[in-house]
Amino acid sequence: MLAIVGAMAEEVTCLLSRVKVTAKEVVGQTEVYRAEGPRGPFLVAKSGIGKVAAAASTQILITKYGADRILFSGVAGGLKDGIRRGDIVMATDLVQHDFHLEAFGRKPGEIPGIGVSVACDGGLMRQFREAYAAAAAADPDFPPLHEGRIATGDCIVADTQLKNAIRDTFDAVAVEMEGAALAQVCKMNRVPFLVIRTVSDNADEEAIGDFDRFIEAAGIRDYEILKNFL
Ligand code: ADE
Repeated sequence: MLAIVGAMAEEVTCLLSRVKVTAKEVVGQTEVYRAEGPRGPFLVAKSGIGKVAAAASTQILITKYGADRILFSGVAGGLKDGIRRGDIVMATDLVQHDFHLEAFGRKPGEIPGIGVSVACDGGLMRQFREAYAAAAAADPDFPPLHEGRIATGDCIVADTQLKNAIRDTFDAVAVEMEGAALAQVCKMNRVPFLVIRTVSDNADEEAIGDFDRFIEAAGIRDYEILKNFL
């Protein structure tokens, strides 16, 4: 069964308000909603913020609910020039920018047994490109779609120096706080996954104000694409 995960209420409320929800359960901190889409049942989950919450929720969705495809949808800070607030980013792969074993001769972000980054599923990426194209065809002002590596860590990046360091060390296009944790758990369980993000801020000194202003609008844009996915 497909599961769609968001970290914060603002990242799942829009989706939940537009689909038929048939049940809600809470496991640990994870809120799990059963929903009916045009092509059958699917799950929506609110994980909570950060890598630990995302990892716990992902394992719950796989082990307890039988999720066999997982899509994370939420907001991110843009790292590269040309990526603006409101744009959509589809991760090609994800890295944990705060994982450091260089002292043991590893590359920045490299996790033994996992690698530096974890790649998203090619089939889900193709499906998402089609869903995006359908949404964009219906609205001439629809924001652009970027593809690239997303960096994940347990901090809000609101500092130009840190932003530039993450961008340059990992060649990442966007930064957020859950995606690579979900990716690692999916890889450990051999479950295909995809992370998509709407850019809420530029991970600089303005990030906090932008984030608060933008997060609800981002959910609405996401839904315009996700509805073509369900
Ligand atoms: N999610 C959205 N914006 C972010 C930022 N600037 N840093 C980390 N996670 C984010």
